[in-house]
Amino acid sequence: ISTRDWSSDVCSSDLGALPSPVLPPSGRKVWRGHFVFTGLFFLSPLARLRHRPRRPVSGTNRATAMMDRVKVIQGDITKQAVDAIVNAANTTLLGGGGVDGAIHREAGPHLVSECRKLGGCPTGGARITKGYYLPAKHVIHAVGPIWQGGNSGEEELLARTYRSAFELAIQHNLTSLAFPAISTGAYRFPMDRAASIAVRETRNYLEWQLALKLVVFVCYERAAYDTYVAAVAETFG
Ligand code: APR
Repeated sequence: ISTRDWSSDVCSSDLGALPSPVLPPSGRKVWRGHFVFTGLFFLSPLARLRHRPRRPVSGTNRATAMMDRVKVIQGDITKQAVDAIVNAANTTLLGGGGVDGAIHREAGPHLVSECRKLGGCPTGGARITKGYYLPAKHVIHAVGPIWQGGNSGEEELLARTYRSAFELAIQHNLTSLAFPAISTGAYRFPMDRAASIAVRETRNYLEWQLALKLVVFVCYERAAYDTYVAAVAETFG
């Protein structure tokens, strides 16, 4: 009997699995198989071929494959035709300036009517609505933290904001997402720190959530674009 950790491989086996919980970013248990290949030799050659252990994707290949699923662009998030654009919202969800204002303007009045029924959202949380007149099918309203100097848990709150948005995308089987640089405008979060957090949380989800085919970081200004490009290069190697 040999026990191998094929968790990086997508092969599945009905030959028995001793799963071990690997906690993904959201904390939900995702069982990755430690497959015990017992009795393989009893199988027919074809079955043996089907159940053969496959080499895990090497680290480099995996990072490259993931990089194909991340894009950084300079532009306007309201123009992105993806499954969902993420709004840098506030806790009322009733609109505001910046990205929030732009999204509500482009989506039309039905958006705020739907948001009104949601009853607000806490910082670090996210809610989903339709996209209405936007090219995106949905809007995920994510409430990032206000920067207060960095000693009030802002970094963990921003990370949680991204995780909340990804959780909603997964629950709604969305495969393409566009994010603005959440909290880096009116909420004054330092751009470099925010970009590192955004890209790190994205990598964590892309690594285990294969259904997520594309994440686009839409940066309004050139400086933000350059910062995100550097953060992606740093995180994805
Ligand atoms: N597309 C993409 N990015 C944009 C756009 C746009 N159309 N407009 C602004 N941005 C960028 C800003 O340049 C900034 O880098 O989005 C980032 C976030 O800025 P804000 O929109 O100010 O969001 P945030 O810092 O999270 O503050 C949220 O501001 O608008 C209010 O209601 C909102 O109270 C909430 C607060």
